Amino acid sequence: MNAIELETRYSAHNYAPLPVVLTRGQGAHLWDTAGRRYVDMMSAYSAASHGHVHPRILAALTAQAGRLAVPSRAYYNDRLGPFLGELCRLTGLDAAVPMNTGAEAVETAIKAARRWSYRVKGIAHGAAEIIVAEGNFHGRTTAVISFSTEPEYRDGFGPFTPGFRMVPFGDLAALERAITPQTAAVLVEPIQGEAGVIVPPQGWLAGLRRVCDAHRVLLILDEVQSGLGRTGAWFAFEHEGIRPDGVILGKALGGGVLPVSAFVARREVTDVFTPGSHGSTFGGNPLAAAVGLEALYMIREEGLVEKSRVLGAHMLERLHAMASPALKEVRGRGLWAGAEIDPALASAREACERLLEKGVLSKETHQTVVRLAPPLVIARADLDWALDRFEAVLHELGGTRGRARAA
Ligand SMILES: Cc1ncc(COP(=O)(O)O)c(C=O)c1O
Repeated sequence: MNAIELETRYSAHNYAPLPVVLTRGQGAHLWDTAGRRYVDMMSAYSAASHGHVHPRILAALTAQAGRLAVPSRAYYNDRLGPFLGELCRLTGLDAAVPMNTGAEAVETAIKAARRWSYRVKGIAHGAAEIIVAEGNFHGRTTAVISFSTEPEYRDGFGPFTPGFRMVPFGDLAALERAITPQTAAVLVEPIQGEAGVIVPPQGWLAGLRRVCDAHRVLLILDEVQSGLGRTGAWFAFEHEGIRPDGVILGKALGGGVLPVSAFVARREVTDVFTPGSHGSTFGGNPLAAAVGLEALYMIREEGLVEKSRVLGAHMLERLHAMASPALKEVRGRGLWAGAEIDPALASAREACERLLEKGVLSKETHQTVVRLAPPLVIARADLDWALDRFEAVLHELGGTRGRARAA
C-alpha cells in the first residue's frame, strides 16, 4: 500500500486531506515524496509561522532534548520560568498556565474564569456563565464543542456542557444585553479563523474591554491562531490598544515542531488554581519551554511581526486587486487572509485542488473560503509566486464557468 492507502486504512477518517504526501519542509517550502516542491500558504493553521525546520528552533530542540525533556511538574525545572516570564512580559500579563494544545489552554481558561467568578466575583456556585460568539472555533474537546455553532462539530457528541451563552460575533450591543449578574467572562477570538477569517468591526475589541470593565466580567481572548505575529502585531488585541484579562496562546508557540500552549492572565485569575486543581503531565516540560522561548526570541530577533505587517498588507492589496467573478470577497489582517469563492462557480476545495496542482498548498475552511496564511518567514518573491498561481486559479474558475453562468 502507498502512503495514502496506508493512512486511509489505519487512520480514523476525521480529516479529508488533499491528495499530496509530504515528506520534507524548509522555511516556507514543502516537498512531496516525488520530490516536487510547494509553497506553503497554510503554515499548519499558524503552527508553522516560523517556517518549517528553522535552524534556530531545531538547535533549541535538539540541545534541550539532549539535556532534559519531560521530568514532570512534580519538580521545578530550569527552563519553565524564563519561558513564562517572557510570555508575561510580551502580553503585559502576570502569570501563565503552560499546556500543550490550544484546546487544553481554552479548557484552562474556562476553568479559571469559572473559579474566579465564584471565589473572587462572588457568583453562586455552579451558576457561572461565559459569553461566546457565533461561528467560534476554540478546539474539539467536549466542553469546547458544547458552545460551537457548527452542527458538524457537535453532531452525535452530546450531552453538552452547560454554562455558555451565544451572541453574534462583532455585535457589541448584543453582547452587553447578554450580560447578567452570573456572567463570569467573555471568551472570543479577536479575528475568527476557522469561521473563514472574519474580521470584526473596528472598535469592537475596545468596546468589549469597556463593557467587561463596567460589569466586572473577564475578557479572555483566544489568540491561538491570531497571536504571535500573524496579524502584523504580536497580539491582535494590540490593534485596538487594549489588554485582555487573559489570553490563550498555542500553535506558533511551539515553533512549528512541538505542541506548546498557555493561558496567560492577570494574577487574580491564575491565583484561583491551587496545587492539584489543574495540570497536565506534559504541560510546561523543559523541552517545550526551551522551544517556546526560542520561538518567542526568533519572532522578535528576525522581525517577523513587522514582516507579517508589511508582507500582509502587500498580500491583501494584491488579493483585493484580483478582479475575478470567482472571488466574492477578501478578508484578513497581516499574513492571514480568507478568500471567499463564489459557490456558484466552484467550491473552495476545488480551488485548493487546483492550487495544489500548481505547486501551492492551502486548505479550504467551510465550503467557500480559501485560507491564505503563509509562514511569517516567507520571502516576498515566494509569496508573489503563490499569489500569481492563486490568480491563475481564479481565472480558470471565473473565466470558463463564469462565462457559462453569464450566458
Ligand atoms: C482560535 C483557536 N483556538 C483553539 C484552537 C485549538 O487548538 P488545537 O487544535 O491545538 O487544540 C484552534 C485551532 O485551530 C484555534 O484556531
